[in-house]
Amino acid sequence: MSKYEERWARTEAFRHDRFGMFIHWGLYAIPARGEWVRSHERISVEDYEQFFEEFDPYKYDPKAWARLAREAGMKYAVMTTKHHDGFCLFDSAYTDYKATNTKAGRDLIREYVEAFRAEGLKVGFYYSLLDWHHPDYPHYGDRQHPMRDNPAYKNDGRNFDNYLTYMHNQVRELLTNYGKIDIMWFDFSYQDEYNDMRGETWKATELVNMVRELQPGIILDNRLGGDGAEQTSGDDEPVYAGDFKSPEQTVPAEGLLDDMGRDVAWEACMTLNDHWGYCSADKNYKSAKTVIRMLTECVSKGGNLLLNVGPNAKGEIPRESVEILRQVGRWMDDNGESIYGCGKADVPKPEWGRYTKKGDTYYAHVYDTSTSVLRFDVGREVEKVRLVSDASELVKMRPWNAEHNKKGLVHDVFVDLQNVTLPDEIDTVIKLKVK
Ligand code: GLC
Repeated sequence: MSKYEERWARTEAFRHDRFGMFIHWGLYAIPARGEWVRSHERISVEDYEQFFEEFDPYKYDPKAWARLAREAGMKYAVMTTKHHDGFCLFDSAYTDYKATNTKAGRDLIREYVEAFRAEGLKVGFYYSLLDWHHPDYPHYGDRQHPMRDNPAYKNDGRNFDNYLTYMHNQVRELLTNYGKIDIMWFDFSYQDEYNDMRGETWKATELVNMVRELQPGIILDNRLGGDGAEQTSGDDEPVYAGDFKSPEQTVPAEGLLDDMGRDVAWEACMTLNDHWGYCSADKNYKSAKTVIRMLTECVSKGGNLLLNVGPNAKGEIPRESVEILRQVGRWMDDNGESIYGCGKADVPKPEWGRYTKKGDTYYAHVYDTSTSVLRFDVGREVEKVRLVSDASELVKMRPWNAEHNKKGLVHDVFVDLQNVTLPDEIDTVIKLKVK
């Protein structure tokens, strides 16, 4: 098998699942200005320490999170085990800077893994390659370290190899102590004037070989090599190129192909408001309609959606997020078959919405119509038309214009909904089974 074929095969279940929950949680939930707060406000380790002392997520209920994710139609989750601030939600033998030493007093990642597994979801770990807490990580002059422009934090005496050993050891712990892990999500690589923090700087080949040895079935994102934006791939990609691409806060225009024009697995990660980590002032939440259409767009272009929640310092997913996910869940309950196992349809994007496709079935996601008569053309003869939400028959009919202008209407199918208001104003899904 070529490297491409290996990656394609490895991501099969992932590509089937299509919808996952991203969870950004850590000490930064207390300042509540997003997970970059230390960097943005140039907060020293000492000044950030108060949040470590204070952290007491007494409402943390990963079983409720897992239920919410499952009911939203999500099939997997990826949670921050350590973000850029270096704080570990898991019990690591290599640091004291971990949840077990806070008022939480326990391994929060273990509970996450158990709860999500119990709900039948696949489990992933986000792990930050950056570490603003480790003394051997570059400080002064780094692109984003909180002390980047403070000459008191020059890097003489810092031993980056120590950091690499620490980081590799932690990844080994994460992939040894929690049973089967489905996804490893490294974040991220960068370069600046002084440093090239990409690929082999992380000893990435060695790291990936270890990851695959510990967890043969695992899949990896592509950020050991970059920040997720690059999309080249072919059979000559490095070992650490990852199994799927990770566009952030955007859905690629035409999906993603490799250099040879072959489909590659990808997952768009998106925030629900405008922050990953909890931000109390940010109420700019996307509606359920936006989320559903975003998910449909990803699937119609052959990709997944990893949708973020940022729990607060008490350990609660914000109420707004819960509400949105519940609405998404109701739609998924009715229409999930047009998402799971579906991908690109080989027809141009229609006027009224989008197509997804699974085998010989096309799913028309209708957003917009000006008459009660809908027209579909998938370039093949359609045998049956059904409304997905209740599996009811939609009768094929010939409208006036079809009778009077047969030219070019070879495979066109018309159905009359008898009402210009669509049954589901967010996304009415109609299934076309071809002969
Ligand atoms: C970026 C940010 C980070 C976030 C991630 C999610 O790389 O640095 O805060 O976790 O995107 O994709």
